[in-house]
Amino acid sequence: MNMENRWFITGFVDEPIPDSIDLIQEINRLKKEKNAFILAHYYQVDEIQDIADVVGDSLALAQQATKIEADLIVMCGVHFMAETVKILNPNKKVLLPDLHAGCSLADSCPYDDFKRFVEAHPDHKVISYVNTSAAVKTLTDVVVTSSNARQIVESFPADQKLIFAPDRNLGNYINSVTGRNMLLWDGACHVHEQFSLEKIVELKLKYPQSLILAHPECQRVVLNVADFIGSTLALLNFSKESEATQFIVATESGIIHEMRKASPHKEFIPAPPIDSTCGCNDCNFMKLNTLKKLYLCLKHEYPFIEVEEDVRKKAEIPIRKMLEISK
Ligand code: 13P
Ligand code: SF4
Repeated sequence: MNMENRWFITGFVDEPIPDSIDLIQEINRLKKEKNAFILAHYYQVDEIQDIADVVGDSLALAQQATKIEADLIVMCGVHFMAETVKILNPNKKVLLPDLHAGCSLADSCPYDDFKRFVEAHPDHKVISYVNTSAAVKTLTDVVVTSSNARQIVESFPADQKLIFAPDRNLGNYINSVTGRNMLLWDGACHVHEQFSLEKIVELKLKYPQSLILAHPECQRVVLNVADFIGSTLALLNFSKESEATQFIVATESGIIHEMRKASPHKEFIPAPPIDSTCGCNDCNFMKLNTLKKLYLCLKHEYPFIEVEEDVRKKAEIPIRKMLEISK
């Protein structure tokens, strides 16, 4: 079996790295040598966030992806994020340190099932969260992220029937704040569904001055007790601007790294999942990317993302529409 076939199975380059190698120095050297640009989502491990050229939420990363001049792009996030970068940069090589970094939410909306659903509602426009496969985006009128979902839903006339996929929690939340009655696909993120209301209330009793920050992918019971609801970037900005000094954070715990960096004098307490031993809620997919895998993927320019050209062209349309509305 050749190397690339082996790595295709593992999902990453599994070459041994000598202990003497300074990974940060080597990543920076390879970045320069290969004219590469590193994007990272806030849910990545701290070391990756620290070495990235840009760290952002899903919208900021998609916006940044339209401005990159480098020849090689590494998307430190999950597969749909790297796919979005590739769709916007068809002539560049786009790397993802671990090809198995998927997304339970994207997986909850398989193309064939969603196609049947869309075809059964021909009078509906289709709004899909960016957390979907490129194939699902080809069935979509406009893509949204958690940052701009409300704005994009409100850009449709009030009487326009809408399908919203795949996150039922985000869809329910947008229905509640816009007064719409969008038809929701029944999908969810296994990380955000896991937050325990009971444990959040216990934390609030322990830290009565704290504010509860929640991502709209959380269940309604959690959103009901939140002081602020928003995308990862919106939660970060709120924590910077708020006069409060203690926050219970109900989203993937990676965001707490940027929160602590921006406000070192404030306290950030990760909201725990129902069943936890560590007290925080990590996305196992996001955490598949490591500094070692980032180094090896830059070195070998593998694994890279491929999207069939006809799919790419169709999927680009609703992504560009989103970017246009969100300017
Ligand atoms: P945002 O980046 O829009 O906050 O979404 C979070 C998320 O679940 C990414 O997978
Ligand atoms: Fe997907 Fe949830 Fe992980 Fe985000 S946190 S990548 S939505 S599984």
